[in-house]
Amino acid sequence: MNIKTIEWTGGIDGHVRLIDQTLLPGRCAVLSVRDVEAMWEAIKVLRVRGAPAIGIAAAFGLVLGMQQIDDAATITQAQQKLQQLSDYLAGSRPTAVNLFWALERMLKVAKKTDTENTAQLKQKLLDEAQAIRDEDAAMCRAIGKHGAGLIKEGSTVLTHCNAGGLATAEFGTALAVMFTAHEQGKKFRVFADETRPLLQGARLTTWELMQAGIDVTLICDNMAGHLMSRGEIDLVITGADRIAANGDAANKIGTYSVAVLAAAHGIPFYIAAPSSTFDLSIPDGQQIPIEQRDRQEVINFGAQPVAPENVQVYNPAFDVTPAKYLAGIITERGLIDHPSSDSIRQMLQ
Ligand code: MRU
Repeated sequence: MNIKTIEWTGGIDGHVRLIDQTLLPGRCAVLSVRDVEAMWEAIKVLRVRGAPAIGIAAAFGLVLGMQQIDDAATITQAQQKLQQLSDYLAGSRPTAVNLFWALERMLKVAKKTDTENTAQLKQKLLDEAQAIRDEDAAMCRAIGKHGAGLIKEGSTVLTHCNAGGLATAEFGTALAVMFTAHEQGKKFRVFADETRPLLQGARLTTWELMQAGIDVTLICDNMAGHLMSRGEIDLVITGADRIAANGDAANKIGTYSVAVLAAAHGIPFYIAAPSSTFDLSIPDGQQIPIEQRDRQEVINFGAQPVAPENVQVYNPAFDVTPAKYLAGIITERGLIDHPSSDSIRQMLQ
């Protein structure tokens, strides 16, 4: 992809440019985001989405918000402002821990005592946000390297939702494994679940894989079990939004069903995620907050109504796959085979 998923342009008074993912695949348009309110909205409505990408967006959002405070303000005033902005952005989406991880990292910069004035603090915050973006890009490359060996010549991979370059700084997590295997010259096939209700698989994953020249076939979410029963899937790789200390992993709604189906058919199920997606403060997946989204997403298919306007709707955006269903978690530090609290702690230490 030549266009960056999300980037800062200009100096401290600059702004964010991001691909508006709600318009894909019809239009690949870059949106300029110039204030923190616009960033909150972009995260909320999934203009920018995917756990690592919303962490980066939140970090840049804080930099945009801090443009509102005068350089003459005291450090204490600047710290208070930053905390308010962080609380505000934290209310945009609850499940992906990368958002809170990035906000926390930015707040830590402001707590350091060696900053002389507010202007200097603003610059340090921009530097930190850029570092979060650059480190994510490097982690994605490393995930690709650690996972590519799992894809054998001639194999078929199933993925759910979009864990590609669009969901990260660049290159992706689950898709990084595929991009790297493809760079290594391997021939393999990918099935992409469409991922109702917002169709990240249909709109974004197929778009990214096709651009890379990878053989991809789109299926509806209810077709994966049929393919598995016919021996057509060799492995499943998805991303994650939050991984608890014991390896239970939240990802896009429908991932749990795919994992159970994979287990029933003896197919290995892998999650690919950077260390910023782990939340070691929670022992298991029951503590992961699950975002509930607007009913309109379910009663419409794109712009087309597909259900009675007043039908009752349940619309959780994520589900949790218990660690027992995972063959492994591919991180930037290596593969955690059959993850447990101990092996996760060891890898992340
Ligand atoms: O609601 P979304 O589109 O932000 O959900 C994204 C996912 O569930 C991804 O699989 C996950 O964030 C991993 S992205 C590398």
